[in-house]
Amino acid sequence: MEKGALSYEGKAKKIYQTDDPAFFWVEYLNQATALNGAKKDQIAGKGELNNQITGLIFDALKTAGIESHYVKQLSSTEQLIKKVAIIPLEVVVRNVAAGSFSRRLAIAEGTPLKFPIVEFYFKNDALDDPMITEDQIEVLEIATKAELAELKTLALAVNQALQKIFAVCGITLIDFKLEFGRQTDGTILLADEISPDTCRLWDTATQSHLDKDIYRRELGELVPVYQEVLDRLKESVACI
Ligand code: TMP
Repeated sequence: MEKGALSYEGKAKKIYQTDDPAFFWVEYLNQATALNGAKKDQIAGKGELNNQITGLIFDALKTAGIESHYVKQLSSTEQLIKKVAIIPLEVVVRNVAAGSFSRRLAIAEGTPLKFPIVEFYFKNDALDDPMITEDQIEVLEIATKAELAELKTLALAVNQALQKIFAVCGITLIDFKLEFGRQTDGTILLADEISPDTCRLWDTATQSHLDKDIYRRELGELVPVYQEVLDRLKESVACI
C-alpha cells in the first residue's frame, strides 16, 4: 500500500489517500487542542499513544462483534482505515455526569446517570459543534430516521463493550464521543478514533482523570496518563 496525497487535515490527524481508493492512510499528530482549537499545543508522544490505543480498542470491539473502519497499524503513528463518508455528527454517550452535561444542567460531576444517554452534536467548527435534536438532523437531511436509530443502537453497543473492557483494568467509562461514516453501499460503519482524547476515563479506585481533561483543565502531564491507559488496556484485552 502506497501513501498518496493529503486528503484532509484535522486537529489531531492527517488523512492521506492510498493507491487503493477503498482505503485511507491516517497519521496521528502530536497536536492537542481544546476549546474548539483556541487552546493548542504540541505534545511529543501523543500521536503514537492515540494511534495505538485506537487500534487496540477497535480490535477489541471487533472481537465483541462491532465492526469499524480500522484495518491495521502501519507505523507507530499511522494506521490504515477503510474509506467512508463521515456523517457530520458527534455521537456522545454518557454514563456519569461530567463536562458540558454537568455545566449546562448543574448536575455535580460524578453523578451516575439512571441509564446511558445518547446526544448528537452537529460537526461544524464555524458553529462550535452545537447540540442538535433528532428532528433537526432529519429536517436538515444529515441522517435519516432509520440511520439515527442505527447510530443510537451502535453507540449503546459500543458503550456496553467499552465499559466491560475498561472495567477489567480499573477504569470507569464516564462518557465518550463517536463518529460514523457511510460506506459506498450506504451501510454505516463506526469511524474516527476512540482514545483518551475522545473519552472521559476515571480511575475507578481514585476517581483521578485518565483522559484529555488533564490537558483541558491543566491537571498535569498528558503523556504518562495516556501511557497508563495504553498499558492497562493491553492487560485488559489480554484477559478478555
Ligand atoms: P462534553 O462533556 O464536553 O460534551 O464531552 C463529552 C465527551 O465527548 C467527552 O468524553 C469528550 C468527547 N468530546 C470529543 O471527543 N470531541 C468534542 O469535540 C467534544 C465536544 C467532546
